[in-house]
Amino acid sequence: MYRTHTCGELNLSHNHKQVTLAGWVQTVRKFGAITFVDLRDRYGITQLLFNEELTKTLDINPLGREFVIQATGKVSERTNKNTKIPTGAIELLVSSFTILNKSLVPPFTIQDDTDGGDELRMKYRFLDLRRSELKKNMELRYAVNRATRNYLHQQNFWDIETPFLIKSTPEGARDFVVPSRMNAGEFYALPQSPQTFKQLLMVSGFDRYFQIVKCFRDEDLRADRQPEFTQIDCEMAFVQQEDILQMFEGLIKYIFKEVKKIDYAEPIERISWSDSVWNYGNDKPDTRFGLKLKNLKVRGENVCPELEGKNFGVFNTAETILAICIPDGADYSRKQTDELIEWVKRPQIGMSGLAFIKKGKDETVKSSFDKFFTEQELHSVANYCSASSGDLILILCGAEEKTRKAISELRLKMGEQLGLRNKNEYKLVWVYDFPLFEYDEEGNRWVARHHPFTAPKPSDISKMINNDSKISDAANYLNHPYADIKANAYDMVLNGNEIGGGSIRIHQRALQEKMFAALGMDEEEQTHKFGFLLGAFEYGAPPHGGIAFGFDRICALLGGSESIRDYIAFPKNNAGRDVMLDAPSTIDEKQLHELQIKLDSKKI
Ligand code: AMO
Repeated sequence: MYRTHTCGELNLSHNHKQVTLAGWVQTVRKFGAITFVDLRDRYGITQLLFNEELTKTLDINPLGREFVIQATGKVSERTNKNTKIPTGAIELLVSSFTILNKSLVPPFTIQDDTDGGDELRMKYRFLDLRRSELKKNMELRYAVNRATRNYLHQQNFWDIETPFLIKSTPEGARDFVVPSRMNAGEFYALPQSPQTFKQLLMVSGFDRYFQIVKCFRDEDLRADRQPEFTQIDCEMAFVQQEDILQMFEGLIKYIFKEVKKIDYAEPIERISWSDSVWNYGNDKPDTRFGLKLKNLKVRGENVCPELEGKNFGVFNTAETILAICIPDGADYSRKQTDELIEWVKRPQIGMSGLAFIKKGKDETVKSSFDKFFTEQELHSVANYCSASSGDLILILCGAEEKTRKAISELRLKMGEQLGLRNKNEYKLVWVYDFPLFEYDEEGNRWVARHHPFTAPKPSDISKMINNDSKISDAANYLNHPYADIKANAYDMVLNGNEIGGGSIRIHQRALQEKMFAALGMDEEEQTHKFGFLLGAFEYGAPPHGGIAFGFDRICALLGGSESIRDYIAFPKNNAGRDVMLDAPSTIDEKQLHELQIKLDSKKI
């Protein structure tokens, strides 16, 4: 036996006991003839005492940081107790020890306050994982995994694996592709999600499926995105939207209870997509705080009557004007408002400026556009924004989508600044009734907002069935008859982060074909890409629907962070590289030859 106890479990109840510990040397502190060593393992830290008598007979000089040692001795009550750690009342009076393995000097200190920069710690991730912060994150991740499995098992779900080498049918993100040696010139793709497989499992009759599964997407990375990430992927047959919302409201509340000991008792708030966009500017509202938007002008229509007939060109030419009201902001200094103006002009936000109205405590009103509005008119606009005395109204204007996105970011920034985004407070929201289609400005085409397997709302199905137009060809997208079709889709949002999304699916061949056609896919392409699914729908496909949660995101948020990287044992950096493995990397000529792949040397 290497050890009788772990480094996290000894306390005064073990006083005078003979024990053996094994672990890593965190620190060595010499005080004259005696030496203290902090010994660390997954469970904690125990102080070892090498006293004068022992150091006379044993040479402890070679002991260095991160050496792996085994130490035997008696547990002894400490005179100077450390109340910060569970083993702080005792120490181990070492009588013998063995060096199990040496260590080079680690490239950074393996302690809570480490001196290692991000890249260095990524390169030596196996060392960084020894730090208690990352260790706690892994523990939390496992707790979320366990709770998920327990709940879904109790609810009669089966965990069924689906393949990783599949057909490339890119939708939304790009696929990662894998060349096939046995089928030269052909490629597999890694799944962006097991979407079609879980639907096929419903056709197979496995009416409650789940999987905690890796998904792969070749897309631009952000703090909450990794090229390979994990989903809690679920599907159910014979269900309607309400059944899914109830089932998975249950799951998330169970996770909160098991992992955070939080009783999320109230029903999860539900907000329609259009209300969310109207009130918060986006479809993932952070509802821990108010600061709801005031819609002054929307898509060319003045909603606030006071804007009518004024001579202010910026407002008159803007498609949309939106405002938020900052309580007690009227005493912001010039410097503070200038900073906000600079902030909205940053390329990430991209606005050309910020207008404001200050409603003083003495009921005076001032604005950045005084020239064009009388004081009385400014009062009316302030009233329209429900401003109280002392408030600051921040106003952004421009193109609809851009302005909404910008003000939603400004709202979050102000929420942060005002201390309204407490990371220990959790607010969940279901956002529902998404549009079925969305216009992709970049690709200049219509795409399925969720994915092309999502069913339209039952009341909207006839709009599709009775209309043969291809939305992909729409010149004026807002006027297209498909533009206002709603999807039977829903997202779960936690503190302003999308943690899950799903939908009721199309389960009839005719409607699925109609959907593909609407997206501009002709019959040949449909058969080539999705013939297997269309075929399966002809063999008794039950009504079904499901959802997938971002497992890494849930872990990060429950751990108090919005960055998922620290909750993944071996993540990629922002350029999609694994700096520890140095991947991706080139492969040798022989491998390329076997795969019959020739690289274009001009492009490398
Ligand atoms: P969707 O694409 O919305 O749905 O993904 C589901 C959830 O996965 C998380 N997520 C990510 N997490 C980390 N890195 C990424 N790159 C990343 N992309 C997505 C998000 C998101 O809410 N098949 C459908 C689900 C369904 O319809 O059942 C799907 O994959 O939290």
